[in-house]
Amino acid sequence: MKIEFYLNSHLVVVDVDPMQSLLHTLRGTMSHTATKEGCGEGECGACSVLFNGRLVNACMMPISQVQGGDVMTLEGLRQTEKGQCVINALLEAKGVQCGFCTPGMVLALYALLEADPNPTELAIRTAISGNLCRCTGYGMIVEAAKIAAEKGEGLW
Ligand code: FES
Ligand code: FES
Repeated sequence: MKIEFYLNSHLVVVDVDPMQSLLHTLRGTMSHTATKEGCGEGECGACSVLFNGRLVNACMMPISQVQGGDVMTLEGLRQTEKGQCVINALLEAKGVQCGFCTPGMVLALYALLEADPNPTELAIRTAISGNLCRCTGYGMIVEAAKIAAEKGEGLW
């Protein structure tokens, strides 16, 4: 089935099984490998992307549901000032260790700050509650969100 959608602001067309996940379409069919596969069943958030501006688990979304929609991944977000703000904050706070959760975390923090430019610690922890990190203990990622909010003042 031909599926047409916007990927990082570019119109793309793929011809795939309509039940193939968005994640496997991105990584396998399109060789966009920034989005990671962890659990493959909606539990870890490693595969987080934005779909029509909303944070979703790409492993749980059949590509047929993406028809006509707008997908943003780390490949696109890192080209933007806001994306760089989040990435730099994660680096500054040492919120990147093995890096496996990082693409999903960047998307989750971006989605949070877009909705709430001055989030409380509770709001930050709630926003990343669907994104598992085995390395950092989350404190450094929470700190990164605070840094991104502060340094990106006026950006969000
Ligand atoms: S790989 Fe999608 S939620 Fe874990
Ligand atoms: S940095 Fe290793 S899982 Fe988060």
